[in-house]
Amino acid sequence: MEKLNLAILISGRGSNMQALISACEDQDFPARVAVVVSNRPDAAGLEIAAVKNIPVAIVDHKTYTGKAAFEQALQDVLAGYDIDLICLAGFMRILSADFIAAWPDKIINIHPSLLPAYKGLDTHGRAIADKVAESGCSVHFVTPGMDEGPVIIQKKVPVFADDTPQTLASRVLEQEHVAYPEAVRLIGEKRVRVVDGKVEIQ
Ligand code: GRF
Repeated sequence: MEKLNLAILISGRGSNMQALISACEDQDFPARVAVVVSNRPDAAGLEIAAVKNIPVAIVDHKTYTGKAAFEQALQDVLAGYDIDLICLAGFMRILSADFIAAWPDKIINIHPSLLPAYKGLDTHGRAIADKVAESGCSVHFVTPGMDEGPVIIQKKVPVFADDTPQTLASRVLEQEHVAYPEAVRLIGEKRVRVVDGKVEIQ
């Protein structure tokens, strides 16, 4: 089976990264993790990847004079790994339109809400404040508008009256760990097309 070469970009804990790494350990999964890149030298996920013998790289945005130089350094790392798909997994930098254009329909992200609801940060706090009955997560293609790209997969969870942002986050996170590998599998099986800005799944 031809496998997708993944680059996973992280900034912190790396639990979604870990879910993708675990999925890739299955021989029948149509992807492999080629490299994990963090913009933060202290990201806990780096250690998890290193233990799995996955190449890791740090591209620390603070050491570059601007976004263009930071992104060029990212591109330089990615160029060494024959990457088919970039998975943002808690990556806390907003990529420029130029960077995204260099990877058309090849960058995906996981976001902890049912997009288009609750783009941006503090998704769970806002969902609870609005007393919504359900929330969830979305895996989507990355386009220049933040959290705006075509949605590939969503998973829903109930929101309970006594939820705190933490309890809701952990309920959603469990589903993130299911949704992200599922989305990568669909792409690896070449079942995902973007037509007129919308995802079609075959
Ligand atoms: C996840 O909730 C993800 O949806 C959001 O950032 C968090 C990252 O968590 N984009 P982790 O680093 O994957 O554990």
